[in-house]
Amino acid sequence: MSELKIAIQKNGRLSDNSKRLLEECGIKFSNGSGVLKTTATNFPIDVLFLRDDDIPQYVEQQVADIGILGENMVFEKDKDVIITEKLGFAQCRLSLAIPKEESYSDLKFFMNKKVATSYPKLLSDFFKRNDIEAEIEEISGSVEIAPGIGLADAVCDIVSSGSTLLTNGLREVETVLKSQAVIIANKNLDDEKQKILDKLLFRIRAVKNGKENKYILLNAPESAIPKISKILPGMKSPTILPLMEKGWYSLHSVVREDEFWESINKLKEAGAEGILVIPIEKMIL
Ligand code: PRP
Ligand code: ZN
Repeated sequence: MSELKIAIQKNGRLSDNSKRLLEECGIKFSNGSGVLKTTATNFPIDVLFLRDDDIPQYVEQQVADIGILGENMVFEKDKDVIITEKLGFAQCRLSLAIPKEESYSDLKFFMNKKVATSYPKLLSDFFKRNDIEAEIEEISGSVEIAPGIGLADAVCDIVSSGSTLLTNGLREVETVLKSQAVIIANKNLDDEKQKILDKLLFRIRAVKNGKENKYILLNAPESAIPKISKILPGMKSPTILPLMEKGWYSLHSVVREDEFWESINKLKEAGAEGILVIPIEKMIL
């Protein structure tokens, strides 16, 4: 049986979360430092540790069958691959930033300026769409120091927490693209590999659904149950178990985390007590 080869980032913003996602899917593999390729012990995949910049090309050429990386890199490299799933982590944006002391009103600022970036394609598309003529200086790393050393007037780079911009005296002024981690796949996977990918995606969705939902338990008197059940829609209807104390029940349900926070006060007003919220590891819909 052949393994599905999955490329993940070796070092960087995506690496820890990519490894964790595979682990949360129950996939075990060793990851000693300096190891560039490893085979999972309990699932038919090989994990390749690569530079994220190279992953789109490797997936197109089927050096790897699939890869985990940021949409920013997928769209910049523009290779012939399919995005099969958004993963919801490594959220960031590709932004234009200028020295913080400069005043800024609109995109015309960039007219005839020099902008340093590792994303020349996305940036030139953006400038074209907005009728801005600017010079793009392509550099492969440490983009944020470019204005400070006189290499460019501005930068276009990935911003996540914003701390890199801050330490380099830069100010974000425009968003070019919003990005998160995704799975990309080669277009010509054979049936066997497609089946492994489907299995993996099934597990990934179960992990994702689990993260977005919470298991909630609470106690309530019998009279409060109809009202509480309406506030907590749950998967279908809540499980209701009698407590030792007569007339009291324990209600169990699954709710989206954001909905839970919004309904907490209503639940208490309706008579809920002893509310427990428990993380869900996997959830299959
Ligand atoms: C980006 C960018 C900054 C940093 C910004 O690097 O180049 O260095 O993240 O993050 P912050 O806003 O949280 O400070 P990325 O991980 O995309 O780098 P790579 O080019 O090395 O893959
Ligand atoms: Zn990179």
